[in-house]
Amino acid sequence: MRHDIGSEFERPDLDGPGHLRAWLPPEAVAVAAGRQALGLVAGELAASGVCRVLVPDHYCDSMTDPFERAGLSVIPVPTTFDTLPEPRALAAALAEASGCAILFSENFGCAASASLAAVLDDARAEGHAVIVDRTHSLLAPAGYVGDYAVASLRKLLPVPDGAWVTGLVTPPVLAAHQGVKLFVELRSQAATLKRQYLNEERGDQAHRALFERAEDLLDRLPDTCPMSDASLELLDHLDPRRLRARRLANADRLTALLEGLAVHVVNGDGWRSSPSYVVISTRDVTGLRNHLISEAIYCPIHWPEPRRLLAGMVWRHDLLSLVIDHRYTADDMERMAAAIAAHLEKTHSEGHR
Ligand SMILES: Cc1ncc(COP(=O)(O)O)c(C=O)c1O
Repeated sequence: MRHDIGSEFERPDLDGPGHLRAWLPPEAVAVAAGRQALGLVAGELAASGVCRVLVPDHYCDSMTDPFERAGLSVIPVPTTFDTLPEPRALAAALAEASGCAILFSENFGCAASASLAAVLDDARAEGHAVIVDRTHSLLAPAGYVGDYAVASLRKLLPVPDGAWVTGLVTPPVLAAHQGVKLFVELRSQAATLKRQYLNEERGDQAHRALFERAEDLLDRLPDTCPMSDASLELLDHLDPRRLRARRLANADRLTALLEGLAVHVVNGDGWRSSPSYVVISTRDVTGLRNHLISEAIYCPIHWPEPRRLLAGMVWRHDLLSLVIDHRYTADDMERMAAAIAAHLEKTHSEGHR
């Protein structure tokens, strides 16, 4: 058995059936990807005369592209250390821009503070639509309730495709699309190959090229289409309580082990309500990440600098997302913390030479 940590999901271990309803809100429209869910919202907003969307200044292109494609201008709002909008900055941006909606992403499971929730409430009372992105807070019992909610399921769960959206005034009739079928096939096949690689049933890492091909393909699919049967079937066999309990235990263990090291946890309470990653801020993210890769620990950066920075923005390069998902155990967390400590120790002593 290979003990790689992180990166794309391999074919998962399954629970008994009966969990689908826990993953999809009753009124949700289930689509193939988060960007499609956001695209449906963006289309509806554009049709109702909304021409701008305020977004946190920490985001990924797949969150903002759907709005730009629908013709909305995207306006970044400064964020606090936890990557959520700074309440006064959000209020000021609202005062300046007319005809705008707000994309509020519960980044890394972080929930709106009382003051941020108050600004969002005021915005809604004035007729601004609030879209809550629950991709990272999927396992949280509740979050801010806006006009629309979206979540990409495929980013944090072992499913080839999947996302949902609620709040649409006119839910679309969706038709399957050949390109998306291929995308789902590629990702399913990649997940199987990765599982075989981890089980040492094969020596090559062919799964990596397949995952990349699938991502390239998704970038080129403009259509919205329904979530695949393959993902619906997998979701039905994934018990959210098991996943959450394992992730919580991992995050708890890891944050305890990180205490006293030169890293700061960004999503302090966020991981407690919806454990997705433990996100740390540190000085030399590239060096630390490369060291972890050399130990077969693959931690993503959320997010790499976007293709094109929105006006007036400076990108944060201090964040690394530590993997704590349900595939891993306390031993894995100890291995990861030891690798982080070793790297920090080495760079610290090099700095003193
Ligand atoms: C918070 C958030 N929202 C939306 C998306 C888009 O989801 P998808 O890649 O499924 O289109 C992502 C993707 O990384 C995300 O992290």
